[in-house]
Amino acid sequence: MASAAAVSFHQTLPPPLQHRRLGPTPPRCTHSERGVSFDPGSAFYRSESAPGRDLAVLAATIHRRRRLDPSGPFLCLDAMCGCGIRALRYLAQAGADFVWANDASDALRPVVVGNLSRFEPEPLDGQRRWVVSHLDATRLLAERYLRREYFDVIDVDSFGSEAEYIRAAFLALKIGGLLYLTSTDWRSARGYGGKCSLSSYGAYVRPVPYPNEIGLRMLLGGAAREAAMLGFHITPVFSYYAYHGPIFRAMIQLRHGKEDGISNYGFICHCKSCGQTQTFGFHELGQISCRCADRTDATSITVVGPLWTGPLHDASSITEMLNLAVEWGWAYTTGNGVTLEKLLVTMIDESDLRLPPGYIRLDEIASRAKVNSPPLGTLINSLQKEGYAACRSHIGANAIKTNCPITSCIEVAREIRNLR
Ligand SMILES: C[S@@+](CC[C@H](N)C(=O)[O-])C[C@H]1O[C@@H](n2cnc3c(N)ncnc32)[C@H](O)[C@@H]1O
Ligand SMILES: [Zn+2]
Repeated sequence: MASAAAVSFHQTLPPPLQHRRLGPTPPRCTHSERGVSFDPGSAFYRSESAPGRDLAVLAATIHRRRRLDPSGPFLCLDAMCGCGIRALRYLAQAGADFVWANDASDALRPVVVGNLSRFEPEPLDGQRRWVVSHLDATRLLAERYLRREYFDVIDVDSFGSEAEYIRAAFLALKIGGLLYLTSTDWRSARGYGGKCSLSSYGAYVRPVPYPNEIGLRMLLGGAAREAAMLGFHITPVFSYYAYHGPIFRAMIQLRHGKEDGISNYGFICHCKSCGQTQTFGFHELGQISCRCADRTDATSITVVGPLWTGPLHDASSITEMLNLAVEWGWAYTTGNGVTLEKLLVTMIDESDLRLPPGYIRLDEIASRAKVNSPPLGTLINSLQKEGYAACRSHIGANAIKTNCPITSCIEVAREIRNLR
């Protein structure tokens, strides 16, 4: 089982994986992210994913500063590194003492080595800060676990579903460490891959009006289940849906011991008839129904799960990430359509523990209220004045998250349009 103790990688690296300094001259830099220059070469690289990498660097830095033993080496593992941009940024920006960059494709070796050599061509103290390998991620992670080499941050940036790597990643993670997961399995998230979501995440997913939040909750639920199996529990640091791809990302902290295991893990029920969403625990199975008048039509109810029903983010971590982004001058620059300040403030709002899963699109409220869409900000303010939690969703531009029942949302929308 994972232990908080770190090993010294400098002694234990197997010889074939060690970086040889007399490699080819690094290729010309063609790209830069937040001041870090690199060459993507022939690797799969998307500049649109830069905000996801910014968030990872911010969270990793906060974690390095907060961890129980800040004097120990801070170790990161990038299991699917592509050109090595994340590994490079963990080294150059998050203050990693050592980074393991791995990609199954050994054709990428010159690119990754070239990029990491830019950070440190010759280690001054003779101790290498990075290593490059070309193994299947599960094999690499399992080997680290068997050698009792545990990491502070593990990044698994896979194509499709990442579910098959979660257990091995947890085993190679320090307790309290961060696992950054990426999934592009939008078919499962949107309810078109029932069998896939069941085999990958243990969740049965059907179409609901907030599929991209379901995608994040499916991923978190899968991780929560794997952690519980190993005797741990998880807390999401942040969950991030990016429309390009689309991509579902979650930074998860592995926590000591099992919690009750099910308070944040259950079923989400959406009623097509009235538009209300509710959450049900395992003890309520068999009682799933909607309180609306239309009780006779069983087909109006859609149930998905089990998946993560708890908060999507940790407000205190995101607040620290925002402060750091401001300090580093990252907060107010807009890259790839994302302004970190706006995104992080929305995530802080979304962390309100009173907010249930899901979001409601304005056009749905408008069409049920039979009025033109109320302005988003006005609706949020009115709901807050009525004592409800309400905020924007970082996932849906024209949607709100609220604990206000849909029937009251409709009344408030009518009131805004002076129809009540
Ligand atoms: C989405 S790309 C990584 C992009 C990179 N992390 C970035 O931020 O630019 C996924 C990478 O995973 C590698 N890969 C796919 N399956 C793998 C496996 N089972 N183990 C290790 N690497 C794998 C691919 O070669 C590819 O380079
Ligand atoms: Zn209903």
